[in-house]
Amino acid sequence: MGLVFVLLMAVGLGGGGCSKYKPAAIQSNNKLVHSSIDNTEPVLVFSIFRHGDRTPDQEELDKYPAEEKSDKLFFPFGKKALTNKGKQRGFKVGEYLRDRYDEFISQLYLPDEIKIRTTDYDRTKMTALTAMSALYPPLPPQRWNPALNWQPVPYDTLEYQHDDLLYWYNCPRYTKLRNSVYELPEVKKWIEPYESFYSYLSDKTGTNITTPEDVFFLDNLFQTLENVGVKPPKWAQEVMPKIKEMTKIEYAIEYYDDDLIRLASGVLLGDIVNASTLAVAGDLDQPKMRLYSAHENNVAGLMAAARVFQPHQPKYGSTFSLELRRRNDTGQYGFLAVYAAIAGGPDVILPVDGCGDSLFCDFDTFLSLTKNVVNTRERFEEDCFK
Ligand SMILES: *[C@@H]1O[C@H](CO)[C@@H](O)[C@H](O)[C@H]1NC(C)=O
Ligand SMILES: *[C@@H]1O[C@H](CO)[C@@H](O)[C@H](O)[C@H]1NC(C)=O
Ligand SMILES: *[C@@H]1O[C@H](CO)[C@@H](O)[C@H](O)[C@H]1NC(C)=O
Repeated sequence: MGLVFVLLMAVGLGGGGCSKYKPAAIQSNNKLVHSSIDNTEPVLVFSIFRHGDRTPDQEELDKYPAEEKSDKLFFPFGKKALTNKGKQRGFKVGEYLRDRYDEFISQLYLPDEIKIRTTDYDRTKMTALTAMSALYPPLPPQRWNPALNWQPVPYDTLEYQHDDLLYWYNCPRYTKLRNSVYELPEVKKWIEPYESFYSYLSDKTGTNITTPEDVFFLDNLFQTLENVGVKPPKWAQEVMPKIKEMTKIEYAIEYYDDDLIRLASGVLLGDIVNASTLAVAGDLDQPKMRLYSAHENNVAGLMAAARVFQPHQPKYGSTFSLELRRRNDTGQYGFLAVYAAIAGGPDVILPVDGCGDSLFCDFDTFLSLTKNVVNTRERFEEDCFK
């Protein structure tokens, strides 16, 4: 089965950097036009990106309390916050979007043209703000302060408890299902070789490390500490490749089947499908571009829903876009899946699994391929507490 194959590749025999989207992915060269998508023009664009570099959160710090971290270390940003590097990363996201979509959206900030949504986190809001400052440096009609190459661009945020993008906190059913995947015989086989590693890590950290997720949190802790200039301890550096392997396994498990993917990204995909269906039916009285400033699990989750995901942890500022496009010769509609794995690009066009050889995935085909993972907001709220 496709997924098992992908997993085996991901868990891989020490391939290190081998898992970088080798399958038919095409370098899109930051241009809207590419030979395999000739004669298609974007109609709607949906882009989701991970926030920039941040400081650790408490949950991560708790994974290694032995090494007490003074709050001074995170000054002036605070915990779970965007660093200056993170702001630069957000700015790069905006530059990337301007580069790729310059002919698609106006250089003026036109409120009817674009909607920006963030999760209720300071770091995603601040990433959105830095990205928008790169996407919309004010042209003369919107220049309001001669000393400032900046204009305000607003975003919307759903209430934390009702935000489908924050499913790992407010969808208990998701976590329950994810935990049950750990117990599947075929998954146990991937985890088993690491059981002795758990006790090593538990011993070194002084906490109870028992799942791939625990290791993944630890991985994130070390990454976020490096963001404030703290190198991982020697013992961790020595086993870092193994820690990264576990993170990859965790990412394979998080989107293991349709039920998990539906809870993770079904509402978002539902929004995308609904807006696109309206556009295909001729209703263009809607924003051409929707941006989502969110988290790594959202980037991964939407990629999984769009059938282009290969287990990995999306990097800070990584940007995944679904472009609804129309062929200007035949009128055919379809989707293009575009991934900038590092903030600012370059990007690649990823083939949608099951959509044949074409990178341009026919609209109806895409809808039928993804129908099992699309969700409604109402059903999401119900399903999460089943
Ligand atoms: C169709 O789109 C292609 C690529 O965007 C463009 O080069 C071509 O001029 C367009 N043709 C028409 C008839 O608009
Ligand atoms: C560690 O966690 C596991 C699984 O949650 C639990 O069964 C075990 O009792 C815990 N051990 C300690 C020492 O807390
Ligand atoms: C999509 O449209 C359907 C039909 O109108 C509606 O029931 C559903 O709630 C919409 N989905 C989302 C995510 O808004």
